[in-house]
Amino acid sequence: MHWPEHGAMPNELARRLGTSVPQDILDFSVNTNPFGPPDSFRELWPSWMEAAFYYPHPQGEDVRKAIAEAAGVRKEEVLAGNGGSEIIFLLARLYKDKTVLLIEPSFAEYRTALEANEARIKTIMAQEENQWQPSLHDFLGALSSVDAVFFSHPNNPTGVSYGEELLRQMFQACHDRDIDIVCDEAFYDFTVNHRHLLSWRHTFPTLIIIRSMTKMFSIPGLRAGYLIASPDKVRQAEKLMPAWSVNNIAGCAIKQAFKEQSFTDASVNMIATERERMKTKLEELGFVISPATVNYYLLREDPAKDLLPLITFLSEKGIHVRHTYNFSGLNGSYIRMAVKKNEENNRLLAALQGWKER
Ligand SMILES: Cc1ncc(COP(=O)(O)O)c(C=O)c1O
Repeated sequence: MHWPEHGAMPNELARRLGTSVPQDILDFSVNTNPFGPPDSFRELWPSWMEAAFYYPHPQGEDVRKAIAEAAGVRKEEVLAGNGGSEIIFLLARLYKDKTVLLIEPSFAEYRTALEANEARIKTIMAQEENQWQPSLHDFLGALSSVDAVFFSHPNNPTGVSYGEELLRQMFQACHDRDIDIVCDEAFYDFTVNHRHLLSWRHTFPTLIIIRSMTKMFSIPGLRAGYLIASPDKVRQAEKLMPAWSVNNIAGCAIKQAFKEQSFTDASVNMIATERERMKTKLEELGFVISPATVNYYLLREDPAKDLLPLITFLSEKGIHVRHTYNFSGLNGSYIRMAVKKNEENNRLLAALQGWKER
């Protein structure tokens, strides 16, 4: 029996651990917004259902227009897809038989998608000693014969955002060598002030941004994401995309999401407050926590050790967390935890206190 590949797979995790899944399970392995979806989504849902009875536009023209308007870019720079993961797989096809650099630890789907397309993969590892920032020295040293760099920013699983000057130097180095920069911003909207790199695309035209509606709007079952890149790159990717990839209900949700600024702002503030509170409390309990800027963080024991016993202990208390056995460089010594609502975080704190006192 293998570890589940992703979070939000409670039955598989329980089977792996030999525990049961209670009715009121608290699943901290899911890193969607605990305050979502916005109320309007539930209110509008019945009217969106009607749209399922008609074909969407084959290339999602109306959705692309809405995304372009919201992001302040041209429609030709946008491609909408069936979740960020479809965009990742689509892009990976552009690098078939080419060489791609990954900054690890990172979202496992980059490797899966690139391997499926027989891309050659190089990696550099961001280190905890360096606050999980990649080393510029390692990055520059790894760029020879590379065609593209794939990375998540903020990073999944560490939750860390990289320094602006570091990013600028990394991007400049890619620009000088005509290397594509694939920057997955699935969680950018959880950062305070929505720090993103979209505005850098004029300076660095090989920049390709991936975004997801899944996380902020808590709609993992709908599948909605998009890509923003140069019109040329969008045309290349579009040729590989199946027709009708964005279903009409997802299209309705995407358009409504762009009207939900106050929901997003309130979510970011509440999550930031809880994240900082949890960090303080967990450090008081003796855990080491990553300096995350989003709605999840990494936790480890001090000194680091394999966390299977802790994962099992929490599972027996009805709390699931994200193991890190399939994140390069983490190898199960860390767990990734979502930031949830106050009372849920308190249940987690009580369980972790029990772990320390056992
Ligand atoms: C960094 C990152 N990118 C993309 C995705 C995929 O998101 P979507 O649900 O839009 O396919 C995930 C999902 O966990 C993710 O963590």
